[in-house]
Amino acid sequence: MWAIHHDPEHWDQPEDFRPERFLDDKGQRFTPSCFMPFGAGPRVCVGESLARLELFLFVSGLLQRFSFGPAPGVSLPDLEGRLGVVLQPLRYTLTVTPRAGWE
Ligand code: HEM
Repeated sequence: MWAIHHDPEHWDQPEDFRPERFLDDKGQRFTPSCFMPFGAGPRVCVGESLARLELFLFVSGLLQRFSFGPAPGVSLPDLEGRLGVVLQPLRYTLTVTPRAGWE
């Protein structure tokens, strides 16, 4: 999974966090064929539909209500992370502010 999603032949500057990779030049959502977080083929994740629905509800609920940013003077972790059962980000500090109308 890591190698597929860091292959410089398919990803321009794979170490950079650039969500705009997933938009085409008209700003529409674009999914590169080499993006496969749920695997592919006969062993593809059976929970993909559930996970996508849950992630959408969870993440959109947070982004609707709060703005997230780096804490002053604190840098965000690199993408190396810590390898366990899954690759985890190192601990980091964020500033979370309620958005207008959600105070
Ligand atoms: C963001 C959430 C999730 C991600 C990124 C994810 C990713 C994956 C990946 C990469 C595989 C291995 C595919 C392969 O071997 O090629 C997998 C397998 C599997 N996932 Fe998920 N998964 C997620 C959520 C879930 C959920 C919510 C469930 C169950 C409700 C689930 C159940 C399974 C099962 C049972 C397999 C084994 C399938 C098999 O080997 O036949 N996953 N998942």
